[in-house]
Amino acid sequence: MYLSFSLSWFIVYLFSFTIIPVLFASAAYDYDWVSRHLGARSPYDQDTGSSSDPILKEYDIKQMQIVSRHGTRFPNAGDKKDMIRVATTLASSKNDTVAWAKDFNPNDYPNDKFDQLTDNGEEEVYQIGLRMGKKYSQLRSEVSQVEQVKNIASNYPRTIRSGNAFIKGFFKESTIGSDIPLTTIDAEQDTTVHLTSNCPQYEKEVGKSPKEQMNAYIDKAFPPNAERLKKDLGVDLSPRDVFATLLTCAYEASIYHRVDTFCSILSKEDYIMSEYAFDVKYTNKYSYPHEINSLMACDLVKEIATDLDNAYQEKEDAPLISFKHGHSMSVLPLAARLGIHKDDFFLTADASQEQIDNRMFRTSKDDTYGSNIMFQLLNKKGTKEKFVRVLLSEVPTVLPGCDEEVCPYETFKKAVAPLLQCNREEICNGGNS
Ligand SMILES: *[C@@H]1O[C@H](CO)[C@@H](O)[C@H](O)[C@H]1NC(C)=O
Repeated sequence: MYLSFSLSWFIVYLFSFTIIPVLFASAAYDYDWVSRHLGARSPYDQDTGSSSDPILKEYDIKQMQIVSRHGTRFPNAGDKKDMIRVATTLASSKNDTVAWAKDFNPNDYPNDKFDQLTDNGEEEVYQIGLRMGKKYSQLRSEVSQVEQVKNIASNYPRTIRSGNAFIKGFFKESTIGSDIPLTTIDAEQDTTVHLTSNCPQYEKEVGKSPKEQMNAYIDKAFPPNAERLKKDLGVDLSPRDVFATLLTCAYEASIYHRVDTFCSILSKEDYIMSEYAFDVKYTNKYSYPHEINSLMACDLVKEIATDLDNAYQEKEDAPLISFKHGHSMSVLPLAARLGIHKDDFFLTADASQEQIDNRMFRTSKDDTYGSNIMFQLLNKKGTKEKFVRVLLSEVPTVLPGCDEEVCPYETFKKAVAPLLQCNREEICNGGNS
């Protein structure tokens, strides 16, 4: 008995140390691994989202608010230009490992679909909604009138389509049905979803610096990666082309589940470094280094806090559930305003390797397609005690100012009070309050 047991394990042992590394060396990384390392182009992590929320054993949800990013989208014009450039360069290689480059078809990324949600992006958001609707079916069953649901999207085709898909999933199998009206906010009025709208100061302060910062990092860190590919493939690739290869891989993987093209020539290090490149860009664009980024979420935090307080006070017109279907620029400035995943250094080209490795700001986790920030107003079963819990893409987080994930309402209120002391209109027009 014992002998055969250990023999079989010995065989497993042999396999894991011989066969598997060989497989990995040739086939690089599978879709599951790749999809978790594409920075702000990562598809949603449905597995981590899971099908149940253990909080429901001890607490009832009195109100739930979700601010989310749209699903997987097509590249924009600039991305496509980069993708074609890299594909053309790779197609000139005589190395068979990139023979697929000759088959790259720019029509996979149609010009009339730039920035639009993809079909699988719609399905992705539908699946998030479907899963959340089941997970929170108790709360969902309390919706008896459409007025109890606040359902808002920014006025962009990709957020409107995402919003409709999400609602279709969330309210499937519910008594109310999925005909919940979606309100779109006019771009000229929007101060709560498409957060860079109506904020001239943002352009002035942030402008092109995010991309410049990212390129500074790529130019500094990526030359060895470019040299490796140049040597292997016998073609001229710049450090920025390596990142463009990753970006092409990201669209191939997120839209078409293809990891045997561009994704296959990248090393693990190329991915890990490109994630940091994404993070440098997005943190500068929508998060910590520029205070204006978090201040753009001033009105959004005010609205969330007011809706929570109205529910806490059991006011009749308080929404039971609130959805805001938005963008990276909705989710990241909100997280920044709340102080979530704030590093004690700014993500720049000059950060130390240790800082880079241990950073909390990670678009591969907090800014995937469909990423979301959820606020739950909780009531402890059998009591009248109320709490607020904040979740990032369905993973509970400790809100700064709270000691635990389940934060007593009064503590939450104190933590948020200073965040309500702002005047978005003044800030966005060059004032300083
Ligand atoms: C072709 O490229 C692969 C990496 O993609 C590399 O391992 C191999 O050495 C290259 N072949 C030649 C002949 O340079």
